[in-house]
Order: sequence, then structure tokens, then C-alpha cells
Amino acid sequence: MADQKTKALYAGTFDPITNGHVNIIERSAQVFGAVIVAVTDNPTKDGPLFALDERLALVRDAVGSIQGVEVVSFKGLTVEFARTVGANVIVRGLRAVSDFEDEFAMALANRDMAPEIDTVFLMTAQEFFYISSSRVKEIAGLGGDVGSFVPPAVAEALYGKRTGGRPK
Ligand code: COA
Repeated sequence: MADQKTKALYAGTFDPITNGHVNIIERSAQVFGAVIVAVTDNPTKDGPLFALDERLALVRDAVGSIQGVEVVSFKGLTVEFARTVGANVIVRGLRAVSDFEDEFAMALANRDMAPEIDTVFLMTAQEFFYISSSRVKEIAGLGGDVGSFVPPAVAEALYGKRTGGRPK
């Protein structure tokens, strides 16, 4: 039964959204009364493959119909946006130990800036352990099939970005 008092914010670059992200969002929606999925307009990683409006549309297509989930974009600090939308929890997905250090530092920095907002980590489902946005972009770009890693619309969008089109 979802906790109706807690509004969660799941922010990311989503360049593009993968099945790993979708799994975290589906599970967040089971735990929290409301989940705001926020696509950042100021990615720290340079040169996203997909423009903000494309990333937003792909995230909406993948998770916009899940009950309790709202998809938006934002600029600026995640904690400031969390305050703006009244979110009291930031959700992050953890895959491997290698994610931990960065995620821990980010959670501490966020807590320093906004002590009233806590970060909650969900462990990624094991079938998505090795998926990352960079990996699917690399595989799709080299002609591989990414159908089992990303939602169907994302796979089509990735094939559309490469010269060879869909996999044979
Ligand atoms: N399954 C599969 N992959 C996952 C995953 C999961 N459950 N969770 C994360 N990933 C992967 C993504 O595919 C992505 O892979 P990549 O590195 O190959 O691109 C990577 O982990 C993280 O991407 P994403 O989830 O889209 O988030 P992000 O790390 O790009 O987002 C922000 C970081 C936006 C939350 C952070 O930079 C931020 O808060 N920015 C706003 C500015 C700010 O407040 N800065 C101060 C922060 S202290």
C-alpha cells in the first residue's frame, strides 16, 4: 500500500530512459503516493544524444500512464525543484557498488542543502544491473539490438538516430 503522505522526486538526465529506470519508477509508484519523474534541462554530462523535448516525450511514453506518476522537466538544483513541487523524498536507483560513491556524495550534498528532504535508494532489479544509458547508446549506434534494454519507443528513437536504421 503506497504511503500517501510522501511525494517522491526521481530526477535524471534520461538520455535515454532505460528499462532499469522504468523498473525504479514502477516500484517507486508502489511505495509512494505520488512520484514526480523530472528530466533535467541542465545535464552535467556534455552533449546528450536526445534533446530535452525528445527525452521528455520518451519518458512520458514509457511511464506517463502509471498511476501516481507525473513527468515534467526542470532546470537548476534538484533539491530546489523538490521544494517547488513539495517532494519530501528524492529517489535514486543503485546498481553496483560503483554507483555508491557518487550517489552517497550526491545524497549528502543534497541533505546539506535541504535537510528536510531525504534520499531513498532502491536497488535495481538484477536483470537491469548492467544496463546504462551510455551502454544502450553504444550498442544501438554500432548496429546492435537494444529491444530488451529499453521501451519500444526508445529503441525506435535510437535506431532513428543511426545511419543503418533498425537491426536486421
Ligand atoms: N537502471 C539502469 N540504469 C540506471 C539506473 C537503473 N536503475 N539508475 C541509473 N542508471 C544509469 C543511467 O542509465 C545513466 O547511465 P549513463 O551514466 O550511462 O548515462 C546513469 O545511471 C545515471 O543517469 P540518470 O539516472 O539519468 O541520472 P543522472 O545521474 O544523469 O542524474 C541528476 C543526475 C540529474 C539527479 C543530478 O545530476 C542532479 O541532481 N542534477 C541537478 C543539479 C543538481 O542539483 N546538482 C547537485 C547535485 S548534489
